[in-house]
Order: sequence, then C-alpha cells, then structure tokens
Amino acid sequence: MPQSRPLVRNPLFVFVPPIVLLGLGLAFVLQPGAFAPSHELVEQAISERQMAAVPKTQLAMASYHQTRLATKFGGSDLVVVNKQRPLQPLEYQPLNLRDIESSKNLDNSRGLQLADQAATALEDLAKAMRAEGAGKLFVNSAFRSYKYQAELFNSKASQYGLEGALARAAKAGHSEHQTGLAADVSVPEQGCAIMQCFGDTDGGKWLAANAWKYGFIIRYEKDTTSITGYTYEPWHLRYVGVQLASTYSKTGMKTLEDFWGFAPAEFYLEETASSTSN
Ligand code: DAL
Ligand code: ZN
Repeated sequence: MPQSRPLVRNPLFVFVPPIVLLGLGLAFVLQPGAFAPSHELVEQAISERQMAAVPKTQLAMASYHQTRLATKFGGSDLVVVNKQRPLQPLEYQPLNLRDIESSKNLDNSRGLQLADQAATALEDLAKAMRAEGAGKLFVNSAFRSYKYQAELFNSKASQYGLEGALARAAKAGHSEHQTGLAADVSVPEQGCAIMQCFGDTDGGKWLAANAWKYGFIIRYEKDTTSITGYTYEPWHLRYVGVQLASTYSKTGMKTLEDFWGFAPAEFYLEETASSTSN
C-alpha cells in the first residue's frame, strides 16, 4: 500500500482564514455602509449633503412640528387664534388667571390679569428690561373676557368705523387677549404708548430684541397685515413659551400663521363669503 503523505501543516492555512473572516466581520459591524450596494451609498451621500444645506433653524422647526401641535384650544400656550381660527370654545376663559405683580420694574396699577405662566414670564421680562436700562414696563391691557372684547370691538367701530376697527381689534372669541396669554405694554416715560412709534423707543426696541428670551413674541409685526389682518402692534406681546419663542425668533418668521403653515387670515370667513357672493 502506498504510504499516504501526511498533510502539509503550513501555518498559513491554519491562521490566515480565521483572521480574514474576523477582519471581514469587524468591518461589517463597524462600517456596514461598506457593504451597501453602491446606489444606496450615493443616495446616502446626497441626502447628507441636502440635510447639511437645510438651515439649522428649519430643521429645528421641523422637529418642533413633529412633537408639538398648534391648537385652537385657548388653554394651550401653542394656541393660534386669528380671524379664521376662532377660539374653542368661543367663550373660553382661562382657569389660572392671576394678577400681574406690580414691582419697581412693572406697573400694573390697572390690576390686570394673565394666565399664571404668562404673568410670571412678564414679571421676569420686566425685571430684565429695567435692569438693562430699557425702562419700567406699564401694562395697558392683558386678559380680556369674551364680553369685554365684544364691547372693545364695538367701541373701536364707533371710533374708527368698521374697517378701522377690523384692522385694530379682534371680534370676541378671536382675540389672543381672551386666552390670558397676551399683554399690551408701554413705557410711559418714553411716550408712544399703544402707538406704532413705540417700536422706535428704547423699550419697544428692547422688547423686539429680547422678549423671546422670556417666551414672548411680537405677534403683529410691521407689514404683516395681509397675513394677520391687523396693523403693526409693537406693544402686543404674546406668550408662547420659551421653547417656541426661541425657535420662532431664530427662524426670522414674522407671523404664527407662516410659522405653522396656516392660511393667511386677513379677513373673517364671513367677510370672504360675502365678498365672493357679491
Ligand atoms: N388688538 C388685537 C388684534 C386684539 O384685539 O386681540
Ligand atoms: Zn393686544
């Protein structure tokens, strides 16, 4: 019988295959992309490049939209009320109203009220405003009930006529003031109280630049009448919470309608209906 030759025990055959297999395994675990079909890699690269081109603020806004929702419910800091989005319920009244506290920084001699979180935020804002030399805040108007808003609208209509009233005041059930989240403010020693020139005073400029830090936005900015239906109101602060106010201010948006992608609300639905039926 021919003697069978012993297998060549070359160490290369013993050690190299396991090392190669281990290396491939590690490469797969650490960099799965290396094994993806080339078209997937190209798509991934394109998507990464596209994401890098999207402004960070826009990404923040998109993620914000996914996790939080604007509502018509007056009890939410995210409520969006306008001429086409009446409050739900129409005669909504906040349960957590409280007096805004007067102090050396803030004059609430009219004894006005806001929802608790908005009152605290306004007091903090006034403290910083005074400390930074922008003046002592006076609260001209804050929470307004459904009934009071109706009276206010009628009184504006007698003063300015219907068209003038529509550009200045909301109808009852359509005002941010009814949510307890809006305040009209001034700095009496600087003049221009509840006038558009307030925007050019130290106080008005400070508010435009800093109110977001306390969760407020200037709701009716210059040149936004075709979207909000109101003329410029540099005195009207709307509390939306620090998270939204901060994102909103970074995006440079000028209206909540644009921010949330809602339709412009220059007119009430009934006005639109009557003008199209004419
Ligand atoms: N002046 C604002 C628009 C209001 O009446 O709510
Ligand atoms: Zn107002």
